[in-house]
Amino acid sequence: MCKATVTFADVGKSVRVPEGTRLIDVSDDVETGIVYGCRQCSCGRCMVEVVEGEDGLAPPTVLEIEVLDHHEGGARSRLACQAKVVGDVTLRPRPRT
Ligand code: FES
Repeated sequence: MCKATVTFADVGKSVRVPEGTRLIDVSDDVETGIVYGCRQCSCGRCMVEVVEGEDGLAPPTVLEIEVLDHHEGGARSRLACQAKVVGDVTLRPRPRT
């Protein structure tokens, strides 16, 4: 299985993960600042900003798009509890207003 590098810019750490890994499955070990609530694509608390490598995440599902829209996620926003890694990507927690 191919691997990809996920870089968490807020803590300056990178990890190699198998493609298909969800961000939620690696972020806790990295001790990044991503905060989770529902962990089920509802609350929007786990929003992250893709700094580099948008193609490194699988396209969002319809539900993820709906939640991002509801919580005013920008074009580079994703939900860490949903997004699957498919290539190299750099991200950071998105500050909530
Ligand atoms: S933790 Fe609630 S949407 Fe991701």
